[in-house]
Amino acid sequence: MKIIMLGAAAGGGFPQWNSNAGGCRRARSGDPLAKSRTQTSVAVSRDGERWFVLNASPDLRQQINDTQALHPRDGLRHTPIAGVVLTGGDVDVVAGLLTLRERQPFTLHASHRIHDVLDANPIFEVLAREVVTRSVEQLGVPFTLELGLTARFFAVPGKVPLYLESGSEPPPIIIDDTTVGLEIVEGDKRMLFIPGCAAMPEDLRARLAGVDIVFFDGTLWRDDEMVAAGLGGKTGQRMGHMSLSGPQGTIEAFRTVPVRRKVIIHMNNSNPVLLADSPERAEAEAAGWTIGEDGMEFTL
Ligand code: MLT
Ligand code: MN
Repeated sequence: MKIIMLGAAAGGGFPQWNSNAGGCRRARSGDPLAKSRTQTSVAVSRDGERWFVLNASPDLRQQINDTQALHPRDGLRHTPIAGVVLTGGDVDVVAGLLTLRERQPFTLHASHRIHDVLDANPIFEVLAREVVTRSVEQLGVPFTLELGLTARFFAVPGKVPLYLESGSEPPPIIIDDTTVGLEIVEGDKRMLFIPGCAAMPEDLRARLAGVDIVFFDGTLWRDDEMVAAGLGGKTGQRMGHMSLSGPQGTIEAFRTVPVRRKVIIHMNNSNPVLLADSPERAEAEAAGWTIGEDGMEFTL
C-alpha cells in the first residue's frame, strides 16, 4: 500500500488566512522550522496507479497540483483518482468535493449520515449523480475500494459539523456515523485514518492494536490552548477533539497501544508541534510520533 500525505493541518490550514499569531507569522514568512501545511487529506493506492483520496479538503486543487501521482495521464480528460472517502461532514472534509466537478467519474464513499448531509445541500449536485457514484457504507461492513484494497468505517466519538450545531448549548459528543474512522486493509497490512476523535474508548484502543500505521487527530496540544492564546473561546473538547498532552491526552493514551507507526494529522494552526524547534515537538517525537507534513510518503 502506498500512502501520500496531501495535507496535515486542521480546518483553516497553516497558516490560517486571518491568523496573525506567532506560528502563522513564521509559516507565512517561509521559516523552514514552521512549514506551511494544507488541510488534512491522505491519498492511498495499492499499485501507485489508481488512488483513493481520504477526505476532500478545501485545498484539494492545490494538493492535486502538488502531487504528481494525482495528475492526469491518459487523453484529454483523466484522473488517477478512482474514489473519495469521507470521514465526516465538516467543511475541511467535504468542501474539496466542489473542486472535483467537471463530470469526471469516481466513487464517493461515506456513511449514511454524511450522504444525508450532502444530499440536503444542492451545491453538491455539481457532482452529477449519473457520473459520480454515491456509495453509502454501513459502519463495520467492509467495502471494496478496488480489488485487493478493502475499507471499513467505524464510529469514533465526535460531534455534528460546526454548521449544523444549533442552540447555545455545546453539542453532545456522540458515537455514531457522523464522525468515523477509516480502516484500509491490503493483505496483512492495515492502516487507520482518524482525523477527528474526541476520546479513546476501549473498542478504539483494541482496534488500534497491531496496526501498521495510524494517522490520528492532533488538533491541539493543550485542550485550552486557543483560549489561553486569546485566539478564541473554544476548547478542544468543545470542538470534538482529544488533545495531545495531559493525562487524558492522545500521547498518554497511545503509550500502551502497540502500533508500528503513528502520525499526527489535523493540527490546528495554534498547535506548537507545528514548530520544529518547540519543546512540544520534541516531546511528541520522543513519544514515537511522526509529525505530519504535506508530501510525506509511506509504503506498507
Ligand atoms: C473541526 O475539525 O473541528 C472542524 O473542521 C472545525 C471547522 O469546521 O472549522
Ligand atoms: Mn476538521
